[in-house]
Amino acid sequence: MVVSADNLRDTVALVTGSAHRLGSAIAARLAAAGCDIVVHYGGSRSEAEATALRIRRAHAVQTWALQADLADPASIDRLFEAVAATCGRLDVLVNSASSFVGAPLSEVDASAWDRVQAVNVRAPHLCIRRAAPLLEAAAADRGTAAVINVADLSGVVPWRDFGAHGVSKAGLLHLTRCAALEMAPRVRVNAVVPGAILPPPGETADSAAWRAIGERMPLGRPGRPEDIGDAVAFLAAAQFVTGEILFVDGGEHLFGSTKR
Ligand SMILES: NC(=O)c1ccc[n+]([C@@H]2O[C@H](COP(=O)([O-])OP(=O)(O)OC[C@H]3O[C@@H](n4cnc5c(N)ncnc54)[C@H](OP(=O)(O)O)[C@@H]3O)[C@@H](O)[C@H]2O)c1
Repeated sequence: MVVSADNLRDTVALVTGSAHRLGSAIAARLAAAGCDIVVHYGGSRSEAEATALRIRRAHAVQTWALQADLADPASIDRLFEAVAATCGRLDVLVNSASSFVGAPLSEVDASAWDRVQAVNVRAPHLCIRRAAPLLEAAAADRGTAAVINVADLSGVVPWRDFGAHGVSKAGLLHLTRCAALEMAPRVRVNAVVPGAILPPPGETADSAAWRAIGERMPLGRPGRPEDIGDAVAFLAAAQFVTGEILFVDGGEHLFGSTKR
């Protein structure tokens, strides 16, 4: 069977947090390769349904919009029960959903700490755990199945005032390696580390501040959501790659500094 980043037909991919922004671009790219798509959402129901409809029309694949609160383990259980019942299989899991909350470590109390870790690192673990039987079955059927975790550079170098977030993303990168080892040889587990792709909600991509961030990158521009979609599609198909951390950041990680 030919499996490539442009031929993922007859597979099902679930992208967490794909109602809009980067998650929806990842979902659209996997659909362009032929995957049927589960658009997972937390609170953005109308955006998720619109994204599912847009992807279905653009790429002639099946789509489903399914809700789960990723901070709630029981909700994650129900999500994967719904995937099994509704889609019948799962070949690709993309853990893209994330909270993005900044605060100096001195202000992060126990409940704030737990909220960040629950969504950014515990939920990807629980999603992988719940997805595992489906992914194993898909691998037995097709020879390959994949998990792709979406981290960021705060998990590699410290960002001031994003300590709890950075620890969660560092944990996600190490979860990637641990799960890759435990799920081999049937299921591959990799991560992408996007750089500056979309400005945070509320800021625009044509602001001077955002353009200046791009100009400081070795490759001289901010990334595009499609850059991340392409990387995820590559990892979904790359059959001899597991436990890999793929930087898709215009070379930003080369600075190794704590600041953009
Ligand atoms: N944007 C960038 O330039 C950039 C750069 C580096 C890394 N990344 C990484 O790429 C991924 C996507 O980035 P993004 O900017 O598109 O993310 P985002 O807009 O900050 O969040 C993505 C989604 O996560 C979902 N989410 C958060 N908490 C949830 C919960 N408790 N239950 C269910 N869903 C929850 C939200 O879904 P609902 O809206 O449905 O509630 C949200 O739409 C993230 O992992 C991020 O760290 C992004």
